[in-house]
Amino acid sequence: MKTIISPSILAADFSILGQQIQEIEKSGAEYLHIDVMDGVFVPSISFGMPVIASIRPKTALFFDVHLMIVEPIRYVETFVKCGADMITFHLEAAGERTAETIDRIHGLGCKAGLSIKPDTPVAALKPYIRQTDMILIMTVEPGFGGQKYIEASTEKIRETRRLLEEYGLQTDVQVDGGITTGNVSIVKEAGANVIVAGSAVFRGNIGENIDKLLG
Ligand code: DX5
Ligand code: ZN
Repeated sequence: MKTIISPSILAADFSILGQQIQEIEKSGAEYLHIDVMDGVFVPSISFGMPVIASIRPKTALFFDVHLMIVEPIRYVETFVKCGADMITFHLEAAGERTAETIDRIHGLGCKAGLSIKPDTPVAALKPYIRQTDMILIMTVEPGFGGQKYIEASTEKIRETRRLLEEYGLQTDVQVDGGITTGNVSIVKEAGANVIVAGSAVFRGNIGENIDKLLG
């Protein structure tokens, strides 16, 4: 499967965000990973709608919006209006409203991704596996950039890819958290094809870092 790099702007210098997005656009990355945190589902608060709406006209990159918020269904329409191309939300946050949330996102003409935290088993994804455009396996506890990759994630990625194969699906598998040039080949080999990277992209030269991650 083709590898897609999705730089996470959580690690960007927000005082020159537009400039840094232009650098990403010139690189081999196709997605822009946009982390929205509410201070409830995760301890931290990042940024929200006005930031996404203001960068939308500046770039053609695919907006990969990662919602780390409670009750994601309340906000999906607003995020689509702000320019999201895909909305990924957490199974742990949507609970019984997971299927309805995916349908709502699709009804808005947007792609829907479903994410699980490190402690949630892959089997929990099963009821939604045919409905989902992308599965996001969190490889750190969501909430902060710059954390260390949780080694046990490799087996979860492998299990997810196996599960998709059992269903005859070629769904994208995204990984997010602690991905570096040192472990990117491991997650790819395990079955991930959409690679989120924050620190590994924005620390140093953005274009060179993306080239290295693409391998
Ligand atoms: C963490 C976020 C990630 C974060 C990744 O909760 O979802 O997208 O920005 O940052 P790095 O690549 O630095 O671990
Ligand atoms: Zn993220």
